[in-house]
Amino acid sequence: MAAFVAAAAAFVWLYWAGPYRTVVLDRSALAAAAPNALDDASGERITTPSAWQARRPEIVESLQAEVYGRIPAGARARIVARALVPATDAGGIAGVEQIEIEAGDGVRFNLVLVMPRGAAPAPVIVMQNFCGNQAAFPGRPRAIAPPRNAYPIPCQSGFFDPPHRAVFGEWMLGPPFQRIIARGYALAIFYGGDVIPDHAPDAPAALAALHAEGAIAAWAWTHARVIDVLAVDPRIDQDRIVAWGQSRFGKVALLAGALDPRIDAVVALQSGRGGDALTAHRAGESVSAITRTYPHWFSPRYRQYALRDPPVDQHELLALIAPRPLLVVQGSRDSWADPAGAYRAVVGARPVFDLLGGPPPRFALRAGTHSITDEDWRLTLDFLDARLR
Ligand code: GCU
Repeated sequence: MAAFVAAAAAFVWLYWAGPYRTVVLDRSALAAAAPNALDDASGERITTPSAWQARRPEIVESLQAEVYGRIPAGARARIVARALVPATDAGGIAGVEQIEIEAGDGVRFNLVLVMPRGAAPAPVIVMQNFCGNQAAFPGRPRAIAPPRNAYPIPCQSGFFDPPHRAVFGEWMLGPPFQRIIARGYALAIFYGGDVIPDHAPDAPAALAALHAEGAIAAWAWTHARVIDVLAVDPRIDQDRIVAWGQSRFGKVALLAGALDPRIDAVVALQSGRGGDALTAHRAGESVSAITRTYPHWFSPRYRQYALRDPPVDQHELLALIAPRPLLVVQGSRDSWADPAGAYRAVVGARPVFDLLGGPPPRFALRAGTHSITDEDWRLTLDFLDARLR
């Protein structure tokens, strides 16, 4: 009952008084005002793939300097322990393995790999989860390791799982495992909070230990460490590795895909400020709001762009993913995540996809709010089926 009241109150605040309002997109006006990722810093337009490749490192460099902070250095991952978890101990899900990974200077985290049936190498969706691996499974099974640092605070107790799902969608805490493996995809899920706690007071020490400045960059590095492990697994199709994320983890999936050529497709849902939305598009969550509430996510320099436009913007981040398939999804009532700013970024990135001969990046606006729904997974799987064959 108390959980129900908490969910109802949060729902009413978020969607009627708080940040989530209906957004109507005037696509042609937005497209007309979009930047072009082929324009370099001096305003010259790039016209050849080789000129784009030559400019890429500059964009990576300025995204680190201005937005995300330094990306931790390489340091391949090593497996510390690996165990099969029977379906009876994994909330009824078959094909579950728990893998403890060590990377960098002794950073440890747990990966859960869920394999589909069948002998052929499987495509894999690499994703973070919000409240830890255990909470991603039905009933928080004890055989799945709990997080080392459970943040945000409501994640610390299963009591809040039902209101979490009621407010942020059925699949907010973990994906629809059965449906995804039935479509032939493996899932590699991890909790980034094991590496950098998602909590401003606790994050700086962990960031310093990893020689990182922002958690988004550190979590993108963690995606790469997961792929180190998947890269030597013969059951995984090395040409169909997908980075997937919603909201803060959508920001991470975009950066991971931009930096790691082993990633073959990226899906980012409602990733908003610091993700798919242009920083220079002043709508929804502001730079000052995000850097005040989540100072540990970014380079300390990002907060300067509260009042002036940054020298590098998010259409250039999306363009780094070209020519690989990219799906960006926003919600029509998710004004906080700035769907219009995301649309402009996708339009601004598109010329690079065209130049490199990739499929155009896909922008989808689904009905509804800031959440992970059936519709989000349907869009994801249909997109991957169509673009990753
Ligand atoms: C907050 C934050 C967003 C973020 C979101 C999420 O709303 O302001 O930038 O994307 O949390 O991760 O759900």
